[in-house]
Amino acid sequence: MFEVEQFRARRQQLIEQMEEGVAFIANAPEVTRNRDSHYPYRFDSYFYYLTGFQEPEAFVILIAGKHPKSILFCRDKDIEREIWDGFRYGPETALSTFGFDETYPISRLDELAPKFLGNQTQLFHSLGADTSLDQRVAGWLNDVRSQSRSGITAPHKTIDIRVLLDEMRLFKTEYELCAMRAAAEISASAHQRAMQVTRPGMMEYEVEAELLHEFYRHGSRAPAYTSIVAGGSNACVLHYIANDAVLKDGDLLLIDAGCELHGYASDITRTFPVSGKFSAAQKDLYELVLAAQFAAIEKVRPGCHWNEPHEAALHTLVRGFIDFGLCKGTVDAVIESGDYRQFYMHRTGHWLGLDVHDVGEYKQHGEWRHLRPGMVLTVEPGCYVRPAANVPEHFWNIGIRIEDDAVVTSQGCEVITAAAPKSVMDIEALMAQS
Ligand code: GLY
Ligand code: MN
Ligand code: MN
Repeated sequence: MFEVEQFRARRQQLIEQMEEGVAFIANAPEVTRNRDSHYPYRFDSYFYYLTGFQEPEAFVILIAGKHPKSILFCRDKDIEREIWDGFRYGPETALSTFGFDETYPISRLDELAPKFLGNQTQLFHSLGADTSLDQRVAGWLNDVRSQSRSGITAPHKTIDIRVLLDEMRLFKTEYELCAMRAAAEISASAHQRAMQVTRPGMMEYEVEAELLHEFYRHGSRAPAYTSIVAGGSNACVLHYIANDAVLKDGDLLLIDAGCELHGYASDITRTFPVSGKFSAAQKDLYELVLAAQFAAIEKVRPGCHWNEPHEAALHTLVRGFIDFGLCKGTVDAVIESGDYRQFYMHRTGHWLGLDVHDVGEYKQHGEWRHLRPGMVLTVEPGCYVRPAANVPEHFWNIGIRIEDDAVVTSQGCEVITAAAPKSVMDIEALMAQS
């Protein structure tokens, strides 16, 4: 999947937008789990986006202006460490493999960073993202300032590089969409597998294991976020991740799970009956959420603004809440009062990309931004009914969410997670066959 030109082109595009100055981008540090064990390493999304380089202890400096160049600092080759921990590129091999103009050992960063900063007008840096790095950068700047009597000047302006990078990352290239489609396909097959294996009496974590099995066997090395496998009333806990309860006959099972592939997230939610057959009340609410999702997907197209899918889903849901006796009044009055929040308390989607809740502004100049081809977002209405005096008892403890990933195209959108069944008929048919 790795194509060096893709990453080189992104650096070039960023350098052009900087116009002049120097940019610093650090990779994520390794994080200790306990003693000498680490959490599985995950690179920083910005760093990966610009480099494709996946080793920790790495740093990029980009120089814009008359003599643009991109510079990578990485770990030296170290045979002793490689015997224990595995291959490292080292500056020499990284230079050609990752298409940099210069590479240096990371151990020289404190020595060389001030040199690259000297006589630059502006510094692009993610101020506040990592306070220890901020301190280091401040030290480098002071280093440059201390040389002012030799005529060397320090940047007089600091700009948050994320302003440029977030906008770039918001619009996916065909290369990125290929990765996202592949991730979506794996996740959709994992949801199918979950529907096929689920039986009353199983534990939620047994179903979680089936999801992970499907992710890993297709080459994904990690879920994009902790899977939610929530039976019955657990589905009404929006961020439920305990996944340790028994699945009961007659309950619904809500699964929110997606794999990460080549750094890109997928994010799917499906809700289905543990027994394979929806009850009448479950089906009523399920069909309502599905109708809300279709209404929202209809609004995922160029010309619509960010909030239109949410507004469409909300309108449909509120109409249903009133029809089912969950809310009282007109649709407009229930939306105005916010009474619907008892049953629908989150928004209908988010940008999706290298991060599950991906970067990118939702508003520009105070207005919801318009959808444009290449943007990728989720569409995920839901309905969560906790026991309450104002709620008919047959709806108690039903939690439903249906979530797909959509790419905005010139005509409308491409739902890249469509292979995960979601109509009542398709779900019941698949479960009946299994
Ligand atoms: N799985 C996280 C979300 O749906 O936003
Ligand atoms: Mn989501
Ligand atoms: Mn989700």
